[in-house]
Formats: sequence, structure tokens, C-alpha cells
Amino acid sequence: MNIENIKKEFPIFDDKIQNNDLVYLDSANSAQKPKMVVDRIYDFYTKEFSNVGRSVHYLAVAATNLYENTRSSVQKYINAKDRNEIVFTKGATEAINLVANTFGQKYLKEGDEVLITELEHHSNYVPWHFLRKSKKINIEFAEVNDDGEVTLESIEKKITNKTKIIGITHLSNVTGAILPVKEIVSLAHSKGIPVMVDGCQGAPHLKLDMQDLDCDFYAISGHKMYGPTGIGILYAKKQWLEELPPYQGGGGMIGEVKKKGISYGNLPNKYEAGTMATAQVIAFNESIKFLEKIGIENIEKHEKDLLNYAIQVLKKNNSINIIGNPKKKGGVISFTVEGIHPHDLATILDEDGVAIRAGHHCCQILHDKLGLSATARASFGVYNSKDDIDQLNESLNKCKKIFNLK
Ligand SMILES: Cc1ncc(COP(=O)(O)O)c(C=O)c1O
Repeated sequence: MNIENIKKEFPIFDDKIQNNDLVYLDSANSAQKPKMVVDRIYDFYTKEFSNVGRSVHYLAVAATNLYENTRSSVQKYINAKDRNEIVFTKGATEAINLVANTFGQKYLKEGDEVLITELEHHSNYVPWHFLRKSKKINIEFAEVNDDGEVTLESIEKKITNKTKIIGITHLSNVTGAILPVKEIVSLAHSKGIPVMVDGCQGAPHLKLDMQDLDCDFYAISGHKMYGPTGIGILYAKKQWLEELPPYQGGGGMIGEVKKKGISYGNLPNKYEAGTMATAQVIAFNESIKFLEKIGIENIEKHEKDLLNYAIQVLKKNNSINIIGNPKKKGGVISFTVEGIHPHDLATILDEDGVAIRAGHHCCQILHDKLGLSATARASFGVYNSKDDIDQLNESLNKCKKIFNLK
């Protein structure tokens, strides 16, 4: 991979940010956008705009075809069996809410258990919490170990005959742990339990194959895959989309509407109510082309190399404590520096153009377990190089000097 050339595809790196070259280490939060994605949005609005799935005029039909082309590209990219298993949402959060809400409505009752993990992002906890309130279900948490991983065994320990669904992250946005999703799905299915995967951090960095993983639901965030904001994907096995009730009501999701009753549209329209994020969906096709052009295997290898280098550099730096040490890990490093609050770290790093994230990263359950209110987090994307890690280290040393640390 030629990082210099890849970086040139991202206009954000063309200009200085507050007089600095941007060292962007916040891709787990949201990835920067290649020009082809940005251009596609501009072109669509200026030359091709229409709403989709409604009118029969030229622009409407052309826009509908473009919108549906993205669905086919996503299907191919994640190797789903059927293009109707791809539902567009406004983000991964909405995809998970869709599953919790519809599955909860149809299948959960008082005393049932939903099993998630201590690694989960709030997006894969709060929607289940709503059901705890409304339906009096219980939420169980598979434990994270000292290495920041959730193992198959820790999932198995928490499965009971009341477990009705399991929700797990593919790749932790704090420790970087990659969960044994395929094994967890196989175990769950042997007990008749469906599995929903929060694939926000998995999709931009790992090769995906829905038929091989065999999970029932997989939630994806477009903006973390070098795509626009406002676009997410819910992959769901066709059987579930047929069985579950619709999530939102409105135009576009109906079959027939009469005073006495309403029938719902075919898949996937049943789950896409109202005017969708048309431009974002169409531009997301360019994100997939971008990822395919580089090749996900090359991305995985590049990010692994970067991760190993960063761990090696940061471990040599006194007083930096890396959170977790998972055996299988993606390009995310959360850390603390003794004596400096993560927000101070992030603010001082920012003076050098080094963009990291500080806080609980929407994972308060995990931070409570770690006994920390906040950590600093550096996360990688296709445009990062070893120079970025060196700059991170140099800026961390500058922070330590300001705080009189060795
Ligand atoms: C693991 C994980 N799950 C869910 C989300 C929420 O995704 P979205 O912003 O697409 O709603 C994020 C975003 O930070 C995440 O990292």
C-alpha cells in the first residue's frame, strides 16, 4: 500500500489545520472522506437529484437505480445471500435500535434475558435498556477479562434457558479486541439463540462474509467506512426481516393503506419508511469502491503493522499504560498517562495537529470496570503511517514535559 498516494485522495490532508499537518488518529470515531465520496454527493445534488422509489420521471428512475446499486454493492461486499437482506438506516445506532425494538416487540416478555458484553458501546446497551424498562426483561453482561477480551467461554457462562438474543461487538472500540464471532454464533445457534453483531468497528477494518459468520443481524456505520454521515446498514437474515414487525411507519414502507387496515411493503422497503438519506446512500457506493480498490486484506495488513509499531513505541515510553492486551486486536489503542487527565492530553496533542479522542468512548460500563472515568484513544485508518505514530509519541513526550513527568 502506498500511503502517500492514498492520503492524496483525502482533501482534508491538503490544508494545514491550525498551522499543523493533520495527524488524524480518530478514525474509530469517524473516518475522513476520500474525494470520490465527496464529489459523488456534489454531483448527485447538482446533476442527478430526485427522491427515490416514488415518481416515474427520468431523474426519479435514475436516482432509484443508483440507490439500489448501492444495495447490491453492499450485498456483494459483505457477501450476504440476498440483496433484500440489506436495510439502509441513518447509522449503526439506528440499525441496533431497529433490531432491539422489533425483536423486543415480537419476542421478548418479562423475565427474558438479553445477553450483551461489558465491552459494548452505549448503542448496543441503551436500546436493550429501553426494553428492560418497558417489558421488564433482564440484561446480562458477559465479562471482559484482564486482557480486554470477551471470550467464547465468558459468553457461554452467561447463557441460560432465558437468553433470547445475544448482542456482541465485532471489534471493541476501546481495547481493540476482535471477538470470536463465528464461534459465538455457532454456540448460540446450537441453543436456538439469534446473535446480533455491532459491526461498527469490524466493517471498516476486517473482511466480512455474512454467510460464513452466519450471524442473524450485523450493524454497520457508513461514516466509519470512509462514507458520508447519515448512512448505516442493517444486515439481517431474510427470515428475520419477514418475521419481525416494521420499525417506523410512513410512506414507502406500505403495501396497501385502507381505513380498516394496512399491509406492509416487500423487503427491504418494509424497513425504509419516509425519504431516505438518498445522496448519502448513493455516495456510499463510492466508499465501497474505494475500499475494494485498496483491498480489505491490504488494509488489514497495513493496520496490523501500524498497530504493532504503535504498541512497540508506546510501550517504550515510560508512564504510558495501554488498556488491554487482546490476542486478536484491531487498530485501536486506548491508554492513560499517569498524572495527566486524558482530556488534557487530547487538548495538548491537538496543539500539534494530533487528533485523538479522550473520554469514555461511549463505553461507561467498561470504564467503570477498569476503574477509570476516561482514557485517551488513538485509532487508525488507511491514511495513517508510522510517521503519525512517531508524531503521537513526540507530542505525548511534550505533554509529559509540561506536566513535569519523566
Ligand atoms: C462499537 C460502536 N458501536 C456503535 C457506534 C455508533 O455508530 P453510529 O455513529 O453509526 O450510530 C459506534 C460509534 O462510535 C461504535 O464505535
